[in-house]
Amino acid sequence: MIQHLLSTRDLDREAAIRILDVAEDMAQTADREVRKLPPLRGKTVVNLFFEDSTRTRLSFESAAKRLSADVITFSAKGSSVSKGESLKDTAQTLAAMGADAIVVRHHDSGAAHQLAHAGWIDAAIINAGDGTHEHPTQALLDAFTMRSRRHGADSRGRGLDGLRVAIVGDILHSRVARSNVWLLTTLGAEVHVVAPRTLLPHGIEHWPVTVHEHLDDALAAAPGAVMMLRIQTERMRDAFFPSSREYAREWGLTAERMTQLGPDTMVMHPGPMNRGLEISSAAADSSASTVLDQVTNGVSIRMAVLYLLVAGSSETADSTGGER
Ligand code: NCD
Repeated sequence: MIQHLLSTRDLDREAAIRILDVAEDMAQTADREVRKLPPLRGKTVVNLFFEDSTRTRLSFESAAKRLSADVITFSAKGSSVSKGESLKDTAQTLAAMGADAIVVRHHDSGAAHQLAHAGWIDAAIINAGDGTHEHPTQALLDAFTMRSRRHGADSRGRGLDGLRVAIVGDILHSRVARSNVWLLTTLGAEVHVVAPRTLLPHGIEHWPVTVHEHLDDALAAAPGAVMMLRIQTERMRDAFFPSSREYAREWGLTAERMTQLGPDTMVMHPGPMNRGLEISSAAADSSASTVLDQVTNGVSIRMAVLYLLVAGSSETADSTGGER
């Protein structure tokens, strides 16, 4: 197993499926009367958030607590980071506190990589979103959601072979899109992308994807799942499209487009959603929508990742067993 989780590019098919399978075990424990499991007892997990986050931070916090870890959540606002303390000083402080894992979200692409490899701290580093680069646990929870909807209780050991998925919208700024492209490809899915030209990254022709010009073409090519991305206005300094109305009409999953989707097409969104812009309420609240499943599955995936990175090296028996 890998030592850190920085990018889905670092996961081969076997490692990716192992995480999904362990998450499956973790999901089953959610139905137990006592949900808490012992494997991270005595371990310290630090959530280090330099960027705003609701669901990712809560999800990691809940995952670490369910595994009995001590959890410290550290948000940069109101901390010494806002007084100019460097990532290095912060890391060394956390090392001195004995952190076993650091879950980091940072506005700079590459921050998680730097924490893992600069030699400042000897802890497992989990990238919870670095700039526009990657967000590997989001892609894993998306893959888990697709696999469960597709195969139900018969998911274990499987990839996503032959599943055709469309990723739609602000691909330029999306770490979710990048992590998904690599992971979906590793798992055997076929990825289609579509966006206004201004929101496609340079070099996309080198990605393992088919690029479409029109949303309706992409939807027709990808009956498996359609993943709508948030328009990330906070990362935009220029106007990338004429108006919100125009964007919703050309690139949004409107109520009308919903009627064109096949009966088994999953409608996905990582959240937070801009309702009425990239996704209509008719789509977000439909029975095809996996938005809330994605949130639920996020906890299981993060439990699996924490378990494999922090406890996995010292425990070999089944992941959800009782006291040892
Ligand atoms: C994503 C993120 O932060 O990259 N959200 C999330 O983790 N749930 C996507 C987004 O912000 O649009």
